[in-house]
Amino acid sequence: MRLDKFLVDCGVGSRSQVKTFLKKKQVTVNGQVETSPKTQIDEDKDQIAYLGQELTHETFVYYLLNKPQGVISATEDSRHKTVLDLLDETARHKQVFPVGRLDIDTHGLLLLTNNGDLAHAMLSPKKHVDKIYQAKVAGIMDEEDILAFEKGIKLKDHTCQPAKLEIVSVDRNASTSLVQITIAEGKFHQVKRMVAACGKEVADLQRLKMGPLSLPNDLELGDWRRLTQEELDALTIFGIPLA
Ligand code: URA
Repeated sequence: MRLDKFLVDCGVGSRSQVKTFLKKKQVTVNGQVETSPKTQIDEDKDQIAYLGQELTHETFVYYLLNKPQGVISATEDSRHKTVLDLLDETARHKQVFPVGRLDIDTHGLLLLTNNGDLAHAMLSPKKHVDKIYQAKVAGIMDEEDILAFEKGIKLKDHTCQPAKLEIVSVDRNASTSLVQITIAEGKFHQVKRMVAACGKEVADLQRLKMGPLSLPNDLELGDWRRLTQEELDALTIFGIPLA
């Protein structure tokens, strides 16, 4: 491929920035300064460095974001900030998109990638990927609700698959509950609607887990990081090439 395309793909900069870096002799190919954007390179064999740092070419990229409230799970929107606005230039250049959606007022774990096959597999109802949410609920959730979740909550347009409701704590004075809910589906507003079907209301919703991925304790709201090798290894259960 062309050297300038390789550099842009690696997130070094835009096409015009990369041209400037080449002119400034900041790029080497196999140890030799290269200044022409048109130079053809072999991304599997040649060693390309920018400012002395070796670059590796990635087709697919994987971002784990602690989504804050007020941001929408889309790639573009005319009114609201999107999760893409929180990531880096490489993510936008590589055209990552969120794997599933969280509501604007939901926070927590969101995976973004440009690997469409992986996203498709993780969202496929056939794969039964568990999502774990923590919810602050207005109202007291009880044993009856646990049984209703186990049986399958009936919504207006859908009967939910059996789901797990765990009551973490209850504040009887404030009449609130903290619960964890595990669902394998991903219907519109599903958790909020399931809780509402029990006569209570979700006041705050956070996603803690999606399949083998967990929200890291040290990832602040609005922060992101690339998936670790360990997390990538865990995603191989979906049988999709990740590189
Ligand atoms: N269920 C909801 O109600 N909202 C979300 O954002 C995710 C699951």
